[in-house]
Amino acid sequence: MLQGEDLTAFPAEFDPERPSAARVYDYYLGGASNLKVDRDFGKKVLEVLPEARDYALYNRAFLRRTVRYCAANGIRQFLDIGSGIPTVGHTHEIARQIDPVCRVVYVDNEPLAVAHSELLLTDNPNAAAVHADIRNPGAVLGAAETKRLLDFDEPIAVLMVALLHFVPDADDPKSLLKRYHSALAPGSYLVMSHVTDEGLNLRVGAAAEMYRTTDRPACVRDREQITELFDGFELVEPGVVLTPQWRPDSPTESVDPSRAAALGGVGRKVI
Ligand SMILES: C[S@@+](CC[C@H](N)C(=O)[O-])C[C@H]1O[C@@H](n2cnc3c(N)ncnc32)[C@H](O)[C@@H]1O
Repeated sequence: MLQGEDLTAFPAEFDPERPSAARVYDYYLGGASNLKVDRDFGKKVLEVLPEARDYALYNRAFLRRTVRYCAANGIRQFLDIGSGIPTVGHTHEIARQIDPVCRVVYVDNEPLAVAHSELLLTDNPNAAAVHADIRNPGAVLGAAETKRLLDFDEPIAVLMVALLHFVPDADDPKSLLKRYHSALAPGSYLVMSHVTDEGLNLRVGAAAEMYRTTDRPACVRDREQITELFDGFELVEPGVVLTPQWRPDSPTESVDPSRAAALGGVGRKVI
């Protein structure tokens, strides 16, 4: 984790003046890997959208449940793109609780997130971190660590959790997804969550607007647009829903789905 706020500890591309979406998310989650510039920005977002913290916590719980679901359905390899700063309950920790042989490749284009992941994974032969951009599938799929750990002839769960709202229509997310889809063996899964304004409308838009000043401008999509991103994958029940509504651990879980600000789902590649 961060050594205080020692900027010399950061990789070269690090910009201390600009909030980082990865570190602001860490702040919402109550993590320690964020700087004053991120906390100040996060506080301003919370003034506009008090649900932002619930969004992050519910999203993280969605990640936990979906990884467990995939592992319970036989998946032993995970490609977690936009994995963020490792925090408690990272994908390899959840997956190895089901089966220690699970292999995980983390991918992020934020250098600090990758540096943290590398540190965390030292001495872990079954997991690795790759510095790459989802918009460059060749770099993600062709990275040495991806090739070393993942067998694309066998089913893989690809995670794009709280990621694709950072990929605007101008970058053609649908074509990108086709590229990832075509690299996967039948029986693979796509796990996705995405910011939406469903139920919270204008306030989510205002918060997304604020992200223009961060390193990762964000865009909001509706249920139909998010569902379209699963093209080619067969949605497993209950389909695309507000994140807390996706197979909750118990019906009495004390969450308020209307505060989720994100929709999520899991799709299976059948052929
Ligand atoms: C909100 S965090 C989500 C972290 C984790 N997936 C989770 O759900 O808990 C989004 C992450 O996506 C990363 N990201 C944004 N745009 C990206 C891109 N084009 N390629 C790869 N990673 C990206 C950010 O750096 C950040 O770490």
